[in-house]
Amino acid sequence: MKSFRIAVLTSGMSRGSNFEALVNSFREKNLPVEISFVLITRRNAPIKGRCERLNIPIFYHSTKNWDEFETHLIEKCRESELDLIALAGFMKQMTPNIITNIGSPITNIHPALLPEFGGKGMYGSNVHKAVFQAGRKVSGATVHLVNSNFDEGEVIGQEDVDISQCKSPSEIGATVLKIEHTLYGKAVWDYLNR
Ligand code: GRF
Repeated sequence: MKSFRIAVLTSGMSRGSNFEALVNSFREKNLPVEISFVLITRRNAPIKGRCERLNIPIFYHSTKNWDEFETHLIEKCRESELDLIALAGFMKQMTPNIITNIGSPITNIHPALLPEFGGKGMYGSNVHKAVFQAGRKVSGATVHLVNSNFDEGEVIGQEDVDISQCKSPSEIGATVLKIEHTLYGKAVWDYLNR
């Protein structure tokens, strides 16, 4: 079986639950996917503990100087000879420079059923508040390829979930998160093998 190398990009405050679920989805099934490194953008990011526990190399780089960040991220990804880059809570917009030069496809997981409830400002609890206010009975998660417009790349995985019993945006968030954890690994594996 062909083996794959991927990297995971997270933000300073990422919980890292999708990252951990991704790692476990490959490890539990013995799938030949190596996580080459995890990007963290804050030295003391909460996700650090998970990386150490899971024994995954950390690549730290601040995004304060964005041009420098782009250059070093591109260099690091190219030298790591990746098959795919998975965003997991990475909050910044990918620029055309990164997308063109990074050398591998980029995926993201979004906590709603795109194309609804996506785009600028639609992240974290904002998404679930909007879904709650719209009175939706069903929400879900979407895995998509990343282009330089927020949440607009090709959808490569999507799953819905009943939220009719959820009484608040945070209950919706918790219900959707469970779906995210099973969907991301599956969608990435299917995409790598397509
Ligand atoms: C998830 O809700 C994901 O959909 C979004 O960012 C959040 C990251 O959560 N892209 P975690 O850090 O994986 O727990």
